[in-house]
Amino acid sequence: MSNMDNKIVTLPEIATIEEIKEEIQDVKTFYIKFDNPEVQKNFKWKSGQIVMLTIFGAGEAAFSLPGAPENDRFHLSIKRVGKVTSALFELEPGDKVGIRGPFGNGFPFAEFKGKNLIYVAGGIGLIPLRSSIVHALQHREDFGRIIVLLGARTPNDLMYQNNIEEWLKIPGFECYVTVDQATADWKGETGFVHTLLDKANVPVDNTMAFVCGPPIMFNSVIGELMKRGLREDNILSTLERHMKCGIGKCQHCAIGRTLVCTDGPVYTYKQIKTLGEEI
Ligand SMILES: Cc1cc2nc3c(=O)[nH]c(=O)nc-3n(C[C@H](O)[C@H](O)[C@H](O)COP(=O)(O)OP(=O)(O)OC[C@H]3O[C@@H](n4cnc5c(N)ncnc54)[C@H](O)[C@@H]3O)c2cc1C
Ligand code: FES
Repeated sequence: MSNMDNKIVTLPEIATIEEIKEEIQDVKTFYIKFDNPEVQKNFKWKSGQIVMLTIFGAGEAAFSLPGAPENDRFHLSIKRVGKVTSALFELEPGDKVGIRGPFGNGFPFAEFKGKNLIYVAGGIGLIPLRSSIVHALQHREDFGRIIVLLGARTPNDLMYQNNIEEWLKIPGFECYVTVDQATADWKGETGFVHTLLDKANVPVDNTMAFVCGPPIMFNSVIGELMKRGLREDNILSTLERHMKCGIGKCQHCAIGRTLVCTDGPVYTYKQIKTLGEEI
């Protein structure tokens, strides 16, 4: 089967960076379009899936797809950390990259129908959750309460500030934001993100929680959710491991018996705990 027939792009397809947006310090969003219109048309993904991005001469790495599958422009939000991402940050609109994917399991949305959805994100943990939040908003009638709790170190570290401003205005969509350290012009909440669980009076019955962020935030949010009675298999997160093939062949992304590229990156907290015991 050729690259074009298959909706999964198995070999890097050439794509052009159309636009670059600065998000926060060291994080940019890259709007990308495949050069082949057929590949562009057939490229469909599920919330929670990833792609492998090639920066020619530098290498390849895995990145979440933060766009809603329905109608967002294809984009990646990327933090500069090492060789591949530093080379990407040197590129400009018009420059070429390679894309393979989409890979991974994604969020099992069919199982969430009729449930309350709680999203808790710390810092750039909002990147892997954004697609799911926008998808849920676009299918508002399928769910109970949709609650988004966002935390960042300072107001300048809040990802997707334009989106947050829009979300705060949507009736029936509960979005709360807090920062650890306020700046002089910050008028919102101050404190760690888990303090928002009480403010939002989060439900636990018939509820799924999505939690992504740095380990310290992740652990305190999970602890608070479980204290309130949320079950381990009703809490979801995404795991990150260095990837090579992205298709379950090289074992590079193995954690215990699972391969993050094919079994993940979405796992329940119950699974994550079991994996921790296997490592
Ligand atoms: C499922 C998944 C989804 C992801 N989604 C995103 C996303 O949406 N956005 C995003 O920005 N990132 C995402 N990542 C992370 C991204 O793939 C990694 O940051 C990637 O490794 C970056 O490549 P790099 O070459 O720039 O950095 P690398 O050179 O691979 O460095 C990555 C990290 O490892 C450290 N490191 C590098 N070399 C060494 C060394 N020798 N010793 C110790 N530490 C070292 C670096 O300091 C850095 O913190 C995701 C990863 C996975 C697996
Ligand atoms: S990256 Fe090769 S098996 Fe997952």
